[in-house]
Amino acid sequence: MLKIGFIGLGIMGNAMARNLVKAGFDLTVWNRTADKCRGFAELGTTVSATPRQVAEASDITFAMLADPAAAEAVCFGDDGVAAGISAGKGYVDMSTVSPETALSVAAAIRNRGGQFLEAPVSGSKKPAEEGTLVILTAGDRELYDRSLPALEKMGKKVMFLGEVGQGACMKLVVNMVMGGMMTMLCEGLALGKVSGLRASDLLDVLDAGALSNPMFRMKGPQIVQGNFSTAFPLKHMQKDLRLALGLAGQKGQPLYTAAAANECFKAALGLGHGDDDFSAVSRAIMP
Ligand SMILES: NC(=O)c1ccc[n+]([C@@H]2O[C@H](COP(=O)([O-])OP(=O)(O)OC[C@H]3O[C@@H](n4cnc5c(N)ncnc54)[C@H](OP(=O)(O)O)[C@@H]3O)[C@@H](O)[C@H]2O)c1
Repeated sequence: MLKIGFIGLGIMGNAMARNLVKAGFDLTVWNRTADKCRGFAELGTTVSATPRQVAEASDITFAMLADPAAAEAVCFGDDGVAAGISAGKGYVDMSTVSPETALSVAAAIRNRGGQFLEAPVSGSKKPAEEGTLVILTAGDRELYDRSLPALEKMGKKVMFLGEVGQGACMKLVVNMVMGGMMTMLCEGLALGKVSGLRASDLLDVLDAGALSNPMFRMKGPQIVQGNFSTAFPLKHMQKDLRLALGLAGQKGQPLYTAAAANECFKAALGLGHGDDDFSAVSRAIMP
């Protein structure tokens, strides 16, 4: 049985790592805030002192971290994952980062003789708990093949997209679309409210036609109720828009409405909603 490492036990990583434990993998974990490892120690999982020790103990190490800064902090340095990598080992970074970060982490792992796969995910807290994420991998094909039994315990669909960077690009495009859809839903609810429409009627109309989608169906009523319990933290949605805009800047691709959506999320961050669900962007639109 493969020895698996898992680094980053936040909203997503906690649920994903639990699915690997449930599937019977021999797991070693690390999280910056040690408290979050406690539940895993109770499940009989090994808790390591550093990311390096996780990589040393594992055939394949997975990570699910906040952003590019977190992915780099965990990979580089004396106690980082790269320092624990040697020939035959693999690192699968599932965090949403920029293509540049994925490439620099890949280079550090490959320089140590290891293999690298980026594998950001589409789907939120519930799909992570249910093992039904969509996993967007790219990088070393052999590591993809070796990781598949574990990836299939976390996701319902696993795609291989080619060279490192393509997974990050795919993820940023998808989340840019999602961020734009969310701000437009909130603006629709705001305009409906000041025009005297019942929110439930508006959501019914949206759901009855071509605009029907699971996100509006789930988040719409929660926004109306002011329920922003966190599945996808708003600070991470703003990070993804920032990264998508950075990518578009490099490519010379105009993004008129994504730039406007980013301003909405920045305003909501400024109002203190960073740790709330991303639907709390409505607070910047419909106070
Ligand atoms: N939530 C979603 O719906 C969702 C869906 C798809 C993709 N994603 C992406 O998945 C990733 C994780 O999301 P999440 O919702 O699980 O976020 P989260 O709950 O905020 O967890 C972030 C994780 O990163 C760790 N971390 C942050 N900065 C660090 C640093 N400098 N050094 C080491 N560890 C650090 C945190 O450790 P501490 O516990 O010490 O803070 C925690 O384990 C993000 O890239 C996000 O964009 C999220």
